[in-house]
Amino acid sequence: MTTTPVDLLSAQGLRITFPGRHGAEPARAVDGVDLDIRPGEIVALVGESGCGKTTLARSLLGLVPPTAGQVTFDGKPLDYRSRALKAYRKRVQLVLQDPSGSLNPRHTVYDAVAEGLRIHGYAGDERQAVHDALSRAGLRPPERFFLRYPHELSGGQRQRVVIAGALVLEPELIVADEPVASLDASVRGEILALLLRLRDELGLSALVVTHDLGLAWNIADRVAVMYLGRIVETGDVEQILTAPRHPYTQALLSVLPEAEGDPVVLTGEPPDPSRVPSGCRFHARCQVLASGEAERAGVADACRTQDLPVLAGGSETQVACHWATAKVAAGS
Ligand SMILES: Nc1ncnc2c1ncn2[C@@H]1O[C@H](COP(=O)(O)OP(=O)(O)O)[C@@H](O)[C@H]1O
Ligand code: SF4
Ligand SMILES: [Mg+2]
Repeated sequence: MTTTPVDLLSAQGLRITFPGRHGAEPARAVDGVDLDIRPGEIVALVGESGCGKTTLARSLLGLVPPTAGQVTFDGKPLDYRSRALKAYRKRVQLVLQDPSGSLNPRHTVYDAVAEGLRIHGYAGDERQAVHDALSRAGLRPPERFFLRYPHELSGGQRQRVVIAGALVLEPELIVADEPVASLDASVRGEILALLLRLRDELGLSALVVTHDLGLAWNIADRVAVMYLGRIVETGDVEQILTAPRHPYTQALLSVLPEAEGDPVVLTGEPPDPSRVPSGCRFHARCQVLASGEAERAGVADACRTQDLPVLAGGSETQVACHWATAKVAAGS
């Protein structure tokens, strides 16, 4: 008998709708998402700015209650009462990028890292815990950093302090929202290597949120590509990045510096979650529909009128596209 690995964190049928501003329609920021993260796995959540990544990530942390659907951790639905949420946030830590103000400029590195321990009433040796977390985050020797202030550190070091502040609580999973977006390319590689090492050495799982599909290459086991509140393609990183099937994933990949062939320039309006198009939500910008390829495959009407099903969670490779599905059915 084979046993299925238990998911650490799951979302099922998750929807998050914000009330419309100034009489506008409500914004369907997350519009039906199933997502699973397994122990020791790094999943990259990728998509253009505004597609709902941060909203999804925050709801996985219990910071935004879902409008519909649910989040489960270790097989149990999240308990949104404050005490239970506090205990949950010890096990699942949010890592933001430092320039968004996650470090208080008036706190030393020691205090920044110790803060989580103090919030959670840690009863052990605080100094030792801070020391170990800084060391794991690659700031060595840790004592040298204790009394430094954020402005005395480089961008990469500051990001490591933020990561140490998450690690000090020994979480099982970290959710990192654009953790390297503002760092130089060389430092970016170092921080990504750190996340990989933490997975290998501590078995730490991570959801890494990024607008940069290229970044997923370097770090993720699995990738989920998000467009206008939905996951449109998901699966093993190698497979998605070498043989993308969704036209949106193909377009994102085509503009990476290492891509071969012509970049696909997406036309049409930038996506607006208060005006989700009917049919395939990508259809007004889809290069496969615009070029007549979808027409030749006999799916153009479906593209314009038939919504696609929500992709199931799990680790299977899946795609939400009439054309990609028709190609598989036709054996091409
Ligand atoms: N608190 C909020 N109230 C209203 N709309 C919001 C709120 N937070 C996010 N949105 C909208 O939801 C959409 C998704 O935003 P976000 O999750 O930040 O996307 P991403 O992280 O992919 O850039 C955007 O259109 C944004 O304007
Ligand atoms: S369903 Fe049609 S419009 Fe949507 S991505 Fe696929 S080919 Fe393009
Ligand atoms: Mg964001």
